[in-house]
Formats: sequence, C-alpha cells, structure tokens
Amino acid sequence: MCGIFGYSGNKQAQGLVIQGLKHLEYRGYDSSGIAMQTHSHKILIEKTHGKIKNLEATLKNNPLSGTTAIGHTRWATHGIPTPENAHPHLNESDELAVVHNGIIENYFELKQALQKQGVRFRSETDTEVIVHLVAKYYKGNLEEAVRRTLKDLKGTYAIAVISSSEPGKIVAAKMDSPLVIGSTKKESYLASDISALLEHTNHVTFIENGDVVTMNQGSFSITDIAGKKISRPVMKIDWDITQAKKGGYQHFMLKEIFEQPGILTAILKERIRGGAIYFDELKITAAQFKKIKRIFIIACGTAYHAGLTAKYILEDLAGIPVSIDTSSEFRYRDPKVDKSTLVIVVSQSGETADTLAGLREAKAKGAMTLAICNVLASSIAREAKGVIYTHAGPEIAVASTKAFTAQLTVLSLFAFYLGALFKTISPKKEKALLKELLLTPHRIQKILDGYKKEEATWKKNVHNFNIHYHTQLEKYFSAKNHERKRSPNGLFLYLGRNINYPIALEGALKLKEIAYIPAEGYPAGEMKHGPIALIDENPWVICLVPESKTYDKMISNIQEIRARGGRIIPIVTEGDKKIERLNPVFTIEVPKTPEIFSPLLTVIPLQLFAYLVALEFGEDIDQPRNLAKSVTVE
Ligand code: G6P
Repeated sequence: MCGIFGYSGNKQAQGLVIQGLKHLEYRGYDSSGIAMQTHSHKILIEKTHGKIKNLEATLKNNPLSGTTAIGHTRWATHGIPTPENAHPHLNESDELAVVHNGIIENYFELKQALQKQGVRFRSETDTEVIVHLVAKYYKGNLEEAVRRTLKDLKGTYAIAVISSSEPGKIVAAKMDSPLVIGSTKKESYLASDISALLEHTNHVTFIENGDVVTMNQGSFSITDIAGKKISRPVMKIDWDITQAKKGGYQHFMLKEIFEQPGILTAILKERIRGGAIYFDELKITAAQFKKIKRIFIIACGTAYHAGLTAKYILEDLAGIPVSIDTSSEFRYRDPKVDKSTLVIVVSQSGETADTLAGLREAKAKGAMTLAICNVLASSIAREAKGVIYTHAGPEIAVASTKAFTAQLTVLSLFAFYLGALFKTISPKKEKALLKELLLTPHRIQKILDGYKKEEATWKKNVHNFNIHYHTQLEKYFSAKNHERKRSPNGLFLYLGRNINYPIALEGALKLKEIAYIPAEGYPAGEMKHGPIALIDENPWVICLVPESKTYDKMISNIQEIRARGGRIIPIVTEGDKKIERLNPVFTIEVPKTPEIFSPLLTVIPLQLFAYLVALEFGEDIDQPRNLAKSVTVE
C-alpha cells in the first residue's frame, strides 16, 4: 500500500509529482504530500489529509518551485491519517526528506534510541525514524547515509530520500516493496508502479531487494548495500498509456468491465496456436510438469476467487487434485507441499505481501512454483520458478474485474495444457471445448451490449432496492426500542453451486468492496444449514442458475427462498423457461456456454450490478474507503 513517486530533471517537478501520485492513488488515498528541493537550504513540503486533489488544491495557492521532488500517497498503517502523519517526513533541521512504502518493524526500538539521543519526532509513523537515522549518519554524502541507515532497518520498504545540500539527487532503496525507475535524456523518475511512468517513458528498470539507487537528472546508478555497482536490465513495457486513462467512462471500473472482451480475445489469440496451447515465457518444461502429483493454489481477494474457480477446471481437465488457500492462511500453517506439488500463485499486482510470503514458503519447502501475474517483472513474477502473464493491461479500479476474467482464462488454458500433457483430455474433447472458449469474448460482449440496451431497467431495479433499504431503515429507527427486533438487513445473498459457487463469493465481494453493503456468498446447498434463517422479505438473493448439472437443485433452493418471501435476482442462460414462474425481481440472461466456462459469463452481470448499486448509493467507486489495490503489508 502507499505509492511513492520521485522526479529529478530540468522541468518544474510539482505538476509531474502530482500527476505521478494520481496514477498511484489506487495504492492508498487517505493523505498525501510532496517535498521539494529549492534554492534555500531547507526542503519545502506540503501535506494534506485526503485525496491528491486536496494536495493539488493547496499547492495551487502555494506552489513549490524546483526541479527535484519526491511525493507520497498514503494508506495508514502507523498513525491516523493527518497531515502530520502524511509523508514526506523531514529531519529536525528540514534539510532531509523521506517517503516510504512498507513497514519498519523495529521502528519502536529505533525511535526510543533516537529519542534518548534527543531527537524530537513530529509524527506517529514508523517512517519518521528513517529520516532521523539518515540525518544521524549524514556526512555530506546522501547515498552513504542511506546505505548506513538501511543496516539499522528491519521490515519492508521502498524509500526515496532527498537532501537540500545535494541538488538534483534522489537516493532510493528497496526491500520487499516495489520500486521501478525510468530515465529519459535529462530526467529521472521513480515510482511504486510502472503505470505512473508510462506517460514519460516505457523503458523501465525494476529495482531488486537490497539495491540502492542514486538518480540525478537523467542518469542513475545502482549499488548493493555494500556500495558495489550492480547492473539491472532496462525493460520495454508494451502497456499503452491510454489504458491507464478513463477514456470517456465515468469510472475506471466501468471501463475495465467493458475492456474484458478485447482482453480475452487477445489472450486466446496469443496462447492458442494451431489448436495447441503455448506459454512462451513459462520457463518450466513439460518434463518438469509431468513430475507433479498435485496442485496447490494460493491467492488473495478476487485472485483467490479466480483460483477457486480454476480448481474445478483443473481437476476436470487435468485430472489432478487441487487444493487452495488464501495466502495469509497458507503461510502460517505449515502447508504440506513438497517437490511433487505445483504451487500456483495468482496475483494481479504480483506484489501482495501475503501471497509473496506464501510463494517463498512454498519455494522453501521445495515445491515447484508458477505465478499467474498481470504486472510484468513484479516481485511474484520474478521469484516464482515459472510465470504466465495475464496481459490485461493496467487495472486501476481497486475492485478487480478484468484481471479476474484474464486470470480465469489463463488458468483455463493452463488446465488444457496440463490435460494434453497428462492425456486426461481427449483431442476431440479439447478441440470442442477450445472452440467454445474462443467464443467467450463474443458472449461477454453480448452481455455488455444487453446491459447497455437495458441500462434503464437495471438502474430502476437498483433504485428500488435503495428505496426499499431506506424504508426499512426509517421503519427501524421510528419504532420504539422494545419493538425493534433486529436491525433491518440490507443484506445481499449470492448463491451458486459447483463452479458457480466461487462466482457467488466474487459477486458478494464486489458489493462489499464498493457499495459497503453486507453481502454473503454461499454454496446454495448450504442454505438449509444456516443462512436460510436470514430469509424474509428483506434480503435480495442473487442466484447463479445457468444451465448446469446442478440446475434443478438450484431451482429447488430458489423455491425454498421464495416460499419464505425472499426476493430473487436470477442469472440464467438465455431462453430459460422455468425461472419466470418463480416471480423474480428481475432476471439477467447470459448466453449459452458449457458449464465449465459459465463463470466467465455469470461474473459479468455481478460486476455491473455492484457498480450500479455503488453508483446509486453515491460511493467512491474507483477508490473505496479503507481499501488499496496493492496490499504490500501483511
Ligand atoms: C486487494 C485488492 C483486490 C485484489 C487483492 C489481491 O484486496 O483490492 O482487488 O483482488 O488485493 O491482489 P493481487 O494483486 O494479489 O491480485
């Protein structure tokens, strides 16, 4: 979490840093700040509470002039979001400034020791110790002082430091938090993520753990902590900057939902050639895959749901047992994986702290590891033995949509790849199913076109929910205390079976994330074991009922909900005749497809639905409260 950005060049830095921070805002947005090298012997800073636009507005009245600056957008870990706790942090004489992404685990001891030496702290953050340590060790060479400081730090960091005595220079360092640099002839940039660099350059260098970078107006050098020179490759990124802009959509989330058919078409075109599956970048050979006896998937959030859906597909097509865990559980429970296990690590950002730690745990136990990542050369992509990129382009909205369908498509293709290798799928079945998979982008497009046509109906239904919800609230609060049985539940239940059960979880997650409405995903068969007690006329029950081998079972479950007054919104295969008899609030149709690929379709209306509810409730869709896109702390 948190985003850092730095600029050293020949242009005014303020606007560039603000622009860079806006690209990184998805990483945290509770406060932000900038530190500027000026001609005076002090560094000038500006920090505000809230989003970057607040910082921008303050700077409009009080611009900072200079050509070297560092900036930060924060997701609070130590200390509440206030201007004092916002970064950058200054040393006591205001001659050094630091920005930091990560957590300094031994900050308390360091702080106590510094306080004993008389240092006065101005914030409650862990970060502030860094700048006081740099000040303590500073003898006219910033790089040396930073290098000495790093020896005292325990924890994770990407830091950038400037000194008023060394014009044009930014010293940065990394341990487990991402840091990427880019350079043009006269300018040097650093950022937490390539999306912030793309409008300046698409030639970037990823910084590794333990590296110390010194950059100065178009040049940079990298050394290790002992000061030995290191060379890191410059990589060309083929992401297009327009992908990181809204392009006429009201929100990034909506834009990213609508990008899905194009992304899936590109993935399928790239990976399926002449009826066979290719993963050119894979680095694990067919012979090595043949040795595996089981698969373990680890991931967090939406990526976990992609993994859970893929479990069904991998077991079906590749005939191999698949276990799955959220990364934070996997890493602390001594998982039983060994060299006959393939651990698949799914992560959009490739930087999620728990997933990275899980990957390391799996490697330490001798498992073969494969990353399914979106961000090129991210930590997870680099550390896993093999990697398959999802090539979904930059995903900016905090709530993940296109990364999910891209992950699921890639994992499905990987299941075909293993199925062919293990001979668990006949060539005839493979051919027939791949033909169907190739039609998926077109089918998603059909859902999106249908949504555009029916947008008014969707919005009316969502508005009705809003009215219903608020009427319930009013009833509750106007009732006398003893008449209030329980709080009115604006609860949404999402039900699915088999391969659509993970999609129920994903639908509920989307609604919680961006609309802040309690929502639960459940396997429909479990209703009778508890959740059916929640059913009265209040909850809205979203039922995933596409054509499948459990269709009739789902219909029975829905009947049980209707018999208790529950309202239903079914997602069905187009042409479904049975569902209207159950008197749904409204029905959403998806095109016909084999059950195994149905999640790629049924998830689309759930993404749109969460979007519309959040829109109706006036929430901040792209940057929901308390969340961050890239969770780089544990
Ligand atoms: C955060 C994001 C989610 C994402 C999850 C895992 O919670 O808000 O959208 O699914 O992290 O992130 P990853 O980058 O590992 O896929």
